[in-house]
Amino acid sequence: MIWWVPFLLFQLQQPLDIPEKNPHTTVADVEMGKRLYLGRCGGCHGPSGDGGKGANLAVAVLPRAAADRSLYRIIRYGIPDTEMPGSLMDSRELWQTVAFVRSLGQVAATPVTGNAEAGAQVFRTKGACLSCHALGNEGGRIGPSLSGIGARRGATHLRAKIEDPASDVPDPFRMVQLTTNAGKAVRGIRLNEDTYSIQIRDFNGNLQSFWKADIAAMTSEKKTNMPSYRNKLSETELNDLVAFLASEKGAR
Ligand code: HEC
Ligand code: HEC
Repeated sequence: MIWWVPFLLFQLQQPLDIPEKNPHTTVADVEMGKRLYLGRCGGCHGPSGDGGKGANLAVAVLPRAAADRSLYRIIRYGIPDTEMPGSLMDSRELWQTVAFVRSLGQVAATPVTGNAEAGAQVFRTKGACLSCHALGNEGGRIGPSLSGIGARRGATHLRAKIEDPASDVPDPFRMVQLTTNAGKAVRGIRLNEDTYSIQIRDFNGNLQSFWKADIAAMTSEKKTNMPSYRNKLSETELNDLVAFLASEKGAR
């Protein structure tokens, strides 16, 4: 064994090591981080971090990024199997973004005013949300599972989805309508699509797969199968429902 090999490996490893504490936290760093954030993150997390399509970042302690280093890793690499993407920034920019995200936690987020317990009732009874959504082990599969929804989405987005569901429909849940060469018409939710084929779940819950070569016409709508509750629930019920969903952090 040559004596310097371990030493060399140690040296090579150094630049890859992520410091435990953010080394870039000056006012100028936070300002730069804000610009990076607004360009890359604000669209999902909201300009002031109170969430939207992305999680609420304006909290005192981020559940998965309590430490600077874990926040850095999440921003750099994203969260696998979720919509949270990684970011190609240099390490200084990453730290500046960390500094700005931390500053978000110091301002008050949009308060959730409803009563979560009453909201759970609305969810199960009047709203009949379980007819389409799973929560834990119960519920349907027409819509996405709402387990842990409060950790994934901010209250603003939750409210918008309930009142005006078509405002923000994720691609995997687009409705499609197609007619095959043989004249068969099918309508359903697009589950998967590639160059040659498409898979749809029809309204009987059956999975159907088609070769594109066999399809005569196909339209994809930005419509959603999620009904609007704007006129079905009172203002109090809507607030309670949002409070319930925001409190639903999963792990059951
Ligand atoms: C395409 C939308 C999108 C973009 C762009 C995006 N995020 Fe996210 N982010 C999400 C979603 C969705 C989650 C929740 C993931 C989950 O758990 O399902 C998330 C989660 C997070 C979390 C974890 C919060 C926790 O629970 O502790 C952090 C931190 C975060 N994002 C920071 C950022 C930053 C900083 C940027 C910009 C560099 C960014 N995100 C860009 C969608 C996005
Ligand atoms: C008839 C079926 C149906 C019913 C009933 C229904 N939903 Fe949905 N919901 C969907 C579908 C389909 C989607 C996915 C497409 C979309 O996002 O618009 C969805 C999406 C959502 C989303 C967005 C999820 C995300 O990851 O952003 C939320 C939140 C939601 N529903 C809440 C509710 C609540 C709360 C109720 C009851 C008050 C309810 N839904 C009742 C079908 C339904």
